[in-house]
Amino acid sequence: MNIDVFTLFPEWFEWFASQRHVRNVLAAGSRLECVNPREHTPLSGGQVDDTPFGGGAGMVLRVDVLDCALRERYGIDPVQLRSQRRVIALAPGGRMLDDRLVDELASEGALTLLCGRYEGFDERILEHFASDVVSIGRYVLSGGELAAMVLCDAVLRKLPGALGHERSAAEESFSEELAGNPEYPHYTRPAEYRGWRVPDVLLSGHHEQIASWRRQQSRLRGERQA
Ligand code: 6GU
Repeated sequence: MNIDVFTLFPEWFEWFASQRHVRNVLAAGSRLECVNPREHTPLSGGQVDDTPFGGGAGMVLRVDVLDCALRERYGIDPVQLRSQRRVIALAPGGRMLDDRLVDELASEGALTLLCGRYEGFDERILEHFASDVVSIGRYVLSGGELAAMVLCDAVLRKLPGALGHERSAAEESFSEELAGNPEYPHYTRPAEYRGWRVPDVLLSGHHEQIASWRRQQSRLRGERQA
């Protein structure tokens, strides 16, 4: 998986990329690189954003600046780029990120993530350059960077080599194996702590009963969340 992140704050991603599970996937052949539109802007003084037409607070990332940055990175008209690779703009109005979308993105060979800042993107960026607009929840972040990291984390941990031990992602929360429900509860030693006992079935050694209990717990959690 090759991920390019267009961000005015590439240093935020240094911390992310230095985390062990991310380092593991990168060592297994994936790439995570940042491009700073400020280094590709045709405007003077490193200008990348501007005040919104019609008035209002905040600044908007300019379409001409992102056009230049994308063109320099990929050597083609950015309008054509989205038919070659997913170009995902992170914005609160987008498609909600869920396990299904994460699986879909994890199956891609390459992703381009666009992080807006301040009040976000000139709409023409979303309309003409992005293949997808993705949001991570119904609340507003001050920029797309944290959302991009959330997306990267969720996608990269699906790839081989991400988890130290080869734990299958099969029975994870929201997977098909759990019928889209959250994961069942986990316990470890001690079996009793301050009078709080681990459910007997988990100590029983009956694998079928354990599996059945876990499916039931997962289903209950799903019902509670709905
Ligand atoms: Cl993707 N961006 C911003 N700025 N805020 C968000 C978001 C994205 N997802 C939820 N809130």
